[in-house]
Amino acid sequence: MDAPLETVVRSTDVSLPIPSPTAATLALLFEPISEDLAAVETEFVKQVQSHVALIPTIGTYIQEGGGKRVRPAVLLMAARMAGYQGPTAVLYASVVEFIHTATLVHDDMIDEADTRRGRPAVHARWGNDVTVLLGDFLYIKSMSMALTPDRLDLVRLLCEVTLRMIEGELYQLTRNGVANISEDEHFDIVRRKTAYLFAGSAQIGGMLGPITEAQQQALWNYGLNIGMAFQVVDDLLDYTGAKDVVGKPVAGDLREGKVTLPLIHLQAHSAEARTLIAAVIAGRDATPDQWDRLLALMAEHGSVDYARGRARGFADDAKAALEAFPAGPERDALLTLPDFVLGRDH
Ligand code: IPE
Ligand code: IPE
Ligand code: MG
Ligand code: MG
Repeated sequence: MDAPLETVVRSTDVSLPIPSPTAATLALLFEPISEDLAAVETEFVKQVQSHVALIPTIGTYIQEGGGKRVRPAVLLMAARMAGYQGPTAVLYASVVEFIHTATLVHDDMIDEADTRRGRPAVHARWGNDVTVLLGDFLYIKSMSMALTPDRLDLVRLLCEVTLRMIEGELYQLTRNGVANISEDEHFDIVRRKTAYLFAGSAQIGGMLGPITEAQQQALWNYGLNIGMAFQVVDDLLDYTGAKDVVGKPVAGDLREGKVTLPLIHLQAHSAEARTLIAAVIAGRDATPDQWDRLLALMAEHGSVDYARGRARGFADDAKAALEAFPAGPERDALLTLPDFVLGRDH
C-alpha cells in the first residue's frame, strides 16, 4: 500500500541556498594547493610512461581529459591540515587519482557508458580488450607507486579501500535490475564503491603528519561522509543534470538497471512509479513519455529534494568530523569542500 504523502521524510532543511560551483569556484577552493595539484598532473604523465606506446597514449588522453581531482585535493588539504610539508603528499595524491582512474575506465566499460569528461570513454575509443589491461596497469601501477616510500601502513589502507570499492562494484552488479533494493543496501553499495576511497584519501593525507589516532579517525569520517554525499549528488545529476555539463551520459542509471536514491524514495510513495520503473528496467530503455512521467512523479513526491536532503546530511556530518582539528585556513578549506560537492553540476 502507498504510504501517505505526509510521511515523506524531510528531516533535513533543503531550502538552504546551495552554492552553484563553477570551474572557477573549484579553482578558488583549490588555490592553496594549486602547485601540488599541478605536480600531480606531472606525476600522472610520468607514471604512464612505458615502452608500450599505447600506455602513454591512453594515459595522456585520460590525463588531458581533466577531471575534478577531488580525491587528490582532499588528500593534499588533509596533509596540510596535519602539518605535513613534503613531497610524499603529491605522490599519494597521484596514487588515489590513479586508483580512481582505473575504476572509471573499467566502470564505463561495464556500464556501457560511451562518454567521460565530455570525450569518448577509453573503451569507446580503444575497445574492451585494451581497456581491461589499461585499467589493470593503472591499478598495479598505483600500488607500485604507493610502495616507493617506506609506508606499508598507507599501502595497507589503500589496498583495503580499493578492495572494498571493487566489492562495491561487483555487489552492485549482483543487484542490477532489482527495482525494490532497500535504502540500506543502496547506501552499502555507495559506501563501498565511492565513499571508502574518499575516506582513505583524507586519512592518508592526515597520516603523513603528526596527528592522533582520534584525528585519523575524524579524517576517515570526513572523507567517508563527503564520499557518500558525492555519490548521492552524482546519482541525482543523472536525473537533473545536462549531458554537456556533466560530461558523461545522463538518464542512464535506470537503463543500466541502477535504482538510486531518488527512485528508492519515489517507489515507497507511488504505486504508479513502481510499475513504471519495473517497465523501464525490463525494457532497458525509457520512452520520452515514460521519462517525462517519471520526472513528474519525482517532482510530485519530492524525491529529488529528499535525495538532496540526504546528501546535505552527509555533507554536514563531514564538516562536523573536522571539529577534531583546530580552526585555521587549512581546516576552512576542507570545510568548504562539502558545499562544493552539494552544489556541483558535473
Ligand atoms: C566519478 O567521479 C565517479 C563517481 C564516484 C561518481 P568524479 O566525479 O570525481 O570524476 P572526475 O574525476 O571528476 O571525472
Ligand atoms: C561510480 O559509479 C563509479 C565508481 C565508483 C567506480 P557510477 O557508475 O555511478 O559512476 P559514473 O556515473 O559512471 O561516473
Ligand atoms: Mg558508471
Ligand atoms: Mg553515475
